[in-house]
Amino acid sequence: MSRSRAVQPDAGLKPAEYARRRRQLMRMMGRDAIAILPTAPERLRNRDVEYPYRPDSDFFYLSGFPEPEAVLVLVPGRKHGEFLLFCRERDADKETWTGRRAGPEGAVADYGADDAFPIGDIDDILPGLLEGRERVFYTMGVQPEFDARVIGWVNRIREAGRAGQRAPDEFVALEHLLHDMRLYKSAGELRLMRRAARIAAAAHVRAMRACRPGLMEYEIEAEFAHEFRRHGCEHAYSPIVGGGENGCILHYTENNAPLQDGDLLLIDAGAELGCYASDITRTFPVNGVFSKPQRTLYELVLAAQRAAIRKVRPGNHWNDPHDAAVRVLTRGLLELGLLKGQLSRLIRDEAYRRFYMHRTGHWLGMDVHDVGDYKVGGAWRVLEPGMVLTVEPGLYIPAGSKGVAKKWWNIGIRIEDDVVVTRDGCEVISEGVPKTVDEIEALMAGDD
Ligand code: GLY
Ligand code: MN
Ligand code: MN
Repeated sequence: MSRSRAVQPDAGLKPAEYARRRRQLMRMMGRDAIAILPTAPERLRNRDVEYPYRPDSDFFYLSGFPEPEAVLVLVPGRKHGEFLLFCRERDADKETWTGRRAGPEGAVADYGADDAFPIGDIDDILPGLLEGRERVFYTMGVQPEFDARVIGWVNRIREAGRAGQRAPDEFVALEHLLHDMRLYKSAGELRLMRRAARIAAAAHVRAMRACRPGLMEYEIEAEFAHEFRRHGCEHAYSPIVGGGENGCILHYTENNAPLQDGDLLLIDAGAELGCYASDITRTFPVNGVFSKPQRTLYELVLAAQRAAIRKVRPGNHWNDPHDAAVRVLTRGLLELGLLKGQLSRLIRDEAYRRFYMHRTGHWLGMDVHDVGDYKVGGAWRVLEPGMVLTVEPGLYIPAGSKGVAKKWWNIGIRIEDDVVVTRDGCEVISEGVPKTVDEIEALMAGDD
């Protein structure tokens, strides 16, 4: 495998943005530190067939380098260059088989490395870079084999200590600094994320137009494959295309059942562009018209989503949208007789969890469930401009639900949008796909 096809030529950020990130991280690390980040390994699917290659998000965030077998090293204040890349060497024969490589020359010329070396030389070069540094910023536990190599390099310097060399005496978790940086999206990142969301929204529209009873779930999934690839995108995660009872399985990905007249179809699918994810869910009737019970529950979820989105603004905390969604859903379930009791008590006891068992959202960015702490010092994080999150309430009532009237069975609904916190509120970047009952029915009837 050559370089990642997840990285489209026109979907990269400017080199200056990667340089700014590296400078910011190095400033926070301090001059007596070093950071080491390997990219993701290639992974086998079966025998000698690989999964499509996707770089590690942290590595890519700091380098924009799309090839496997690469390691980024940041050495603040180093005279002969602070940003080093180890990568595969050019090799005409291998490139004929597995595709183009930048080589160390390309790492310098095209990716802004101050210096670059063949990956095969890393054992000889890295211990020397560790010498005299006090702290090693590194993410332990993700790649155990690489962890052992890093420890081995440090130990080599320690053993040489008798000869007067100084070894680092502290390992620091890199992710605290880096993941906090990743939580705040720049203007360039937001442009990419808007594009990813727009492409995903167009694919959802296509799916609504294509849907009809008798098709298989995977035939609808194929609409996403076409629309995503036509824009150079990958799926940001395995798409969920679940009709009827399958819509009540939160992580349903088989997508291989026939679509039945009278059922709802829940689709959770997002495009990844330039290693940035979108994450959209829509639920609509297979035959284009909501039944009365479907409509009732759908409008309840939509009201919950709107209430939650209204809570996305600077100064509110992470859990405010969830609290708002829970309140609307619980009140609605109570009015419909699906829950019984007193509103405040049902909320306190989390009685809604029988029908709404997940949370209302997550950070969104290079990873679909993006990095960044949800709590700081034990308190919910305060929302700030540049943060991006999903808002995705739902209700799920599988067949056979005890004490629940049959008319509600097999209704699984989720409505999910991608939302940027702005200076004075929020921006919903996945709006290009309808979500009111009237809009959806009009689109599916071909009246739009
Ligand atoms: N698609 C995964 C999620 O909505 O969180
Ligand atoms: Mn989501
Ligand atoms: Mn989703």
